[in-house]
Amino acid sequence: MSFEQHIDQITSDRHLHGRFLQHLSALEKSGHQKLLRLKHRYAMSDENFLSHLADEARHAAHLKKLSQTLIEAREQIGLATKNYLTKLEVFILRELRRRNLESNENCYVVLTYVIEQRAQKFYPTYENILAQKQSNLSVGKIIEDESEHLAMMESKMSSMHLPTSILTDAACFEEDLFRQFLAQF
Ligand SMILES: [Fe+2]
Ligand SMILES: [Fe+2]
Repeated sequence: MSFEQHIDQITSDRHLHGRFLQHLSALEKSGHQKLLRLKHRYAMSDENFLSHLADEARHAAHLKKLSQTLIEAREQIGLATKNYLTKLEVFILRELRRRNLESNENCYVVLTYVIEQRAQKFYPTYENILAQKQSNLSVGKIIEDESEHLAMMESKMSSMHLPTSILTDAACFEEDLFRQFLAQF
């Protein structure tokens, strides 16, 4: 089954779709928490960083609200969702260390870049499927925000000279995490 077919199948079942939205909300929330930890640990306070932080919290809240239009009960959040970003972060830190490139900034940029690439592949497909089904649900604003985040990372990266191999290795590792995430539905 293709990725699109899988999303189509999920959105065809009210309960499954509601559960899926709760998991997406949990992922956005863990993104927000990762950024919050960086903010406290390294006193990151530039304007772009702070608006990124606020956007991810809003995404989590929006997805949670959408889930509540479909189901009421709070579902168990599986490990493939809970550990998604931490596993990716650990992988990236290890790959940066191996290349003598370990720094907070490098980790933040690579992690965010890979996640935003995923968001660019996932959210527009999901939005199209919702539109095809004439659903009242929409993630249009999230798509706009995530494009801005990606552009922000691309502009940071243009002056950082990170080897492309770290980006492709991290993206490849993330592909597998996303596959495990989807396998929960
Ligand atoms: Fe987000
Ligand atoms: Fe984002």
